[in-house]
Amino acid sequence: MSKILVLAGGVSTERDVSLITGKQIYNALKRNGHDVILTDVYLGYELPEEYEGMPLAELFTKDIDWVKDIPDIREIDPDIAGIKALRSDGDKNFFGPNVIKLCQEADVVFMALHGENGENGRIQACFDLMGITYTGNDYISSAISMNKGLTKDIFKAYDIPTPQGVRLKKADYLKLKEDGRLECSVGFPCIVKACCGGSSVGVSIANVPGEFEMALAEAFKYDDEAVIEQYIRGREFSVGVIDGQAMPVIEIAPKVGFYDYKNKYQAGATVETCPADIPDELSEQMKACAEKVFKALRLGAYARMDFMLDSNTGRYYCLEANTLPGMTPTSLVPQEAAAMGISFDKLCDRIIELAKGKGR
Ligand SMILES: Nc1ncnc2c1ncn2[C@@H]1O[C@H](COP(=O)(O)OP(=O)(O)O)[C@@H](O)[C@H]1O
Ligand SMILES: [Mg+2]
Repeated sequence: MSKILVLAGGVSTERDVSLITGKQIYNALKRNGHDVILTDVYLGYELPEEYEGMPLAELFTKDIDWVKDIPDIREIDPDIAGIKALRSDGDKNFFGPNVIKLCQEADVVFMALHGENGENGRIQACFDLMGITYTGNDYISSAISMNKGLTKDIFKAYDIPTPQGVRLKKADYLKLKEDGRLECSVGFPCIVKACCGGSSVGVSIANVPGEFEMALAEAFKYDDEAVIEQYIRGREFSVGVIDGQAMPVIEIAPKVGFYDYKNKYQAGATVETCPADIPDELSEQMKACAEKVFKALRLGAYARMDFMLDSNTGRYYCLEANTLPGMTPTSLVPQEAAAMGISFDKLCDRIIELAKGKGR
């Protein structure tokens, strides 16, 4: 049994998803018999009057329901400005009150964060320096995987099939637009993404130049760099890898449109099939490719790679690696684990074991 702090929330566009993930992990770890608390990395936790003077470590064994106020997923983007206004001490320090102290009291911090800080390696680097043991990937692999441009460069270097694409800086985009020289060099249709986004936020398909400009404007709302990629028409898949071993391939088939934010998180919007109904040979190839990506990006604990299968050519392409994939029981990695006979609760414990085994 361990003292575990589930770290969730934050101020990224994926704040709500993270809280839902955190809640489910918290419940699973409690069922597994651990002493668990859940803290919002940004809002932190102030000891209530009744606990004044109590050592923070004792919170782990107090009978507190840490997840009762966590809302269900909302369709609109989280109100980040509203969240920021809740911090009475301003937001110079990303970590809310007592967060670091509580992390230091825990045996393991379960990273239930998504997007920006959390998935981009900065918190991991900070924790390394502070001697805090955490789940998931280290700072360097997280940072590279979070950046779709850098990921693409590595994919190319390692011969990992990835859609043809280019990067564009916001400053260059503004200049090209001003000069009337904005062109889509990868051709149409293309897909435009914020370089360091996630959950399909800032991702749009463009079929004509007007849409291309709109797609870029949307991506630049979230990042100063965009990735413009050849659009692959066909079926979509994802493959989790845990401790270097690929899990069964899952197919993701949105009922309408592509796998955007709504289709990712609205119940019933997407049909997911695991193991995917594809020939064994293709499944083995995609799994081997996911393991190759895991190695190339220096991933270490668990991750999930996204794939598109071109329906014209039958070729598959890896889109990206997710270093802190969704972890509700209906998320993709838990579904893949279930297909291998590993329950959600067992998967959560396995991830804790992997973190402990890293011996930071
Ligand atoms: N090159 C592409 N061709 C077709 N669809 C794509 C392509 N790139 C992304 N998509 C669609 O957009 C979704 C989000 O893109 P992805 O690169 O996985 O970024 P993220 O999940 O981090 O937002 C994918 O799940 C897929 O449905
Ligand atoms: Mg993705």
